[in-house]
Amino acid sequence: MRTPFIAGNWKMYKTPSEAETFAEALKKQKLPEDVRIAIIPPYVDLVPLKEKLKGTSVEVGSQNVFYEDEGAYTGEISLPMLKEIGADCVIIGHSERRQYFNETDGSCCRKLRKVLRESSLTPILCVGEKLSDREAGEQLMVVSKELRADFSGLTEDEAARVVIAYEPIWAIGTGKTATPDQAEDMCRSIRGIIRDLYSDETAESIIIQYGGSVKPENVKELMEKPDIDGALVGGASLIPEKFAAILDFKSEA
Ligand code: PGA
Repeated sequence: MRTPFIAGNWKMYKTPSEAETFAEALKKQKLPEDVRIAIIPPYVDLVPLKEKLKGTSVEVGSQNVFYEDEGAYTGEISLPMLKEIGADCVIIGHSERRQYFNETDGSCCRKLRKVLRESSLTPILCVGEKLSDREAGEQLMVVSKELRADFSGLTEDEAARVVIAYEPIWAIGTGKTATPDQAEDMCRSIRGIIRDLYSDETAESIIIQYGGSVKPENVKELMEKPDIDGALVGGASLIPEKFAAILDFKSEA
């Protein structure tokens, strides 16, 4: 049985005081006990958010991590820093980092190895195709290439701890969600690639999220698909009531 995992990626939104206000409001909502929940805010919000969410089941994660422990790397954040503040998870290779900040499969792979070998944090690895790839019918080839490169050198035990987020780039922040069938098709193929690289057991246990304009109105249909185990939510995770409504995808109302 795979536990559903829903994470809110705040991107570059919310100051520390806004993050605290969000946490107070989220705590007033009824949160499901059988869903793994995380908020992934900007770095400066990590400590206050962790503090405010103490005693709840809500995890806190970082949007990035560098593969060196320390050094002259202006603007980067290290794994020891994230471990010391008790971060639970970390996004690796979000398409916005690949697009604007030169993140490559090579750096994603180094970051994944670092996190898996030197911490218990859960890495959330993002993969996904551009609109032009999909229009050319090359989405599976692109995602497969990314995934195989990012997973290279990982042992089966390490691979099993990775959460994969399938995020078609054309669906991020555009209001254009992949149809549940399109999302399911790719998530099933991703599970197939993991089966191919490792084993049936790891393929069946690995958590695969869908991301790209997930909102209260479409989450249920997406989560009903057999190979979609969760969601990485951007815009809709910024409003506590909306995020809570997404977490509540199992309710009939
Ligand atoms: P979105 O972003 O939900 O705003 O489309 C998703 C993401 O980038 O993780």
